[in-house]
Amino acid sequence: MNLNIAVLPGDGIGPEIIAQALEVTKAVCNKFGHTLTYNTGLVGACAIDATGNPYPEETHELCMQSDAVLFGAVGDLRFDNNPAAKVRPEQGLLAMRKKLGLYANIRPVTTFEALMHKSPLRPEIVEGVDLMCIRELTGGLYFGRPQGRSEDGNVAYDTCVYSREEIVRIVKLAYEYAMKRRKKVTVVDKANVLATSRLWREVAKEIAADYPEVETEFMFVDNAAMRLIQWPASFDVMVTENMFGDILTDEGSVITGSLGLLPSASIGVHTSLFEPIHGSWPQAAGQNIANPLATILSAAMMFEYAFGLKEEGKLIREAVNESMSANVRTADIQTEGHPAYGTKEVGEWIVNYINNK
Ligand SMILES: NC(=O)c1ccc[n+]([C@@H]2O[C@H](COP(=O)([O-])OP(=O)(O)OC[C@H]3O[C@@H](n4cnc5c(N)ncnc54)[C@H](O)[C@@H]3O)[C@@H](O)[C@H]2O)c1
Repeated sequence: MNLNIAVLPGDGIGPEIIAQALEVTKAVCNKFGHTLTYNTGLVGACAIDATGNPYPEETHELCMQSDAVLFGAVGDLRFDNNPAAKVRPEQGLLAMRKKLGLYANIRPVTTFEALMHKSPLRPEIVEGVDLMCIRELTGGLYFGRPQGRSEDGNVAYDTCVYSREEIVRIVKLAYEYAMKRRKKVTVVDKANVLATSRLWREVAKEIAADYPEVETEFMFVDNAAMRLIQWPASFDVMVTENMFGDILTDEGSVITGSLGLLPSASIGVHTSLFEPIHGSWPQAAGQNIANPLATILSAAMMFEYAFGLKEEGKLIREAVNESMSANVRTADIQTEGHPAYGTKEVGEWIVNYINNK
C-alpha cells in the first residue's frame, strides 16, 4: 500500500515526539512492505514566525493532498505569556479543524497493566477500563455566534448552537464504533436544562432505533463526570457535544496515569488527523524528556483508522506495551529504582522491537 502522509510537528516538544512516531511509522511500513511518502508542514508558533499565519495555506494544501495527517502539538511561551497577542498558535489548530471539517475527536482511554500504580484511582476501579470518548469538535458553544460583550463590558455572552445534521453524523459514528466494540453507547447531555441537549437526545433516540443490538444509555453530564471516576469500566462508547467532551475527555485521560500516553484521532469531511492529546509542553522542548508514546500510539491509530491496517496498528501497540514492561520508560511513567529513558531512546527501543519481530 502507498501511504501518503502530512507531518506537522508544531512547537515545543512537537518535533521530538513526532520524530520518534515517524521512525516507528517507517519501521512498520518497512516490515509490512508499504511505501511511505511524507511531507512536513508548519503549524502553530513556528508557522507564525515564518509566515505570520498559524495555519498557512501551504500547510492546508499539504493536508488536503495527503491521506492522513500526523500532528505533534502547538503552543509557545511567548504567546502563553502575552494574552494580548492578536495571532496565536492555537488559532492554527482551530483553523485546521474547521478547514479539514474534523467534526469528531476520538479518544480511546485504556489502562496499561504496567502502569496501574500511576493512576490516581485505586487499581480495582481502573482495572479493565477500555472506553472511547467521541467528542463533537466543530460546533456548540466554542463556535456559536453571537459571542461577545455588551458595550459597557459588564455582560458577556456565548451561544450554543447545534443542527440536527451535526448531531446525526457524530451520533451515527458513535453507534458504528459501538458495533465494533462492546455494543454500548452512552449519550452525555444536559437535557434537563439545555435546548441543544434536548435536540441531541431526540436525534440520538431516532438513531438508536437503527441499532437494536446496541444498548443505549442517556446520562446527564454532571452524573457522567462522577461515574467516570467511580466506575469508568462501565463505559464503552461515550458520545457528547464539544464543551462537555472537552472536559470529560481530559478527566478520562488522567485515569491512565499520564498525559504522555493518550493518542487521539480527529475525523471528518476531509483528511483525518492523528495527534497526542497533550500540548506542546514548551518547558521541556529540546530536553529529550517528553514521553513519545501518545504520539507513537497516534501513529498506530493512523494505520488503523486512515488506512484500515489493523495488524500494523496492533504491532505498534504490542511494542509500546513491551517497552513499558521492559521498564524502558520516560520519567513521567518510570517506577522507582529504574533509570528514566529519553524520548529518543524510547523511540529507538520500539523501532528495534518492530525490526526484530
Ligand atoms: N493540541 C495541542 O496542540 C494543545 C493541547 C493543549 C495545550 N496546548 C498548548 O501547549 C502549551 C502548554 O500547555 P499546557 O502546559 O497546559 O499543557 P501540556 O499538555 O503541554 O503540558 C501539561 C503537563 O503535562 C505533562 N506532559 C505533557 N506532555 C507530556 C509528554 N509528552 N510526556 C510527559 N509529560 C507530558 C507535563 O507535566 C506538562 O507540564 C500551551 O501553549 C497550550 O496552549 C496545545
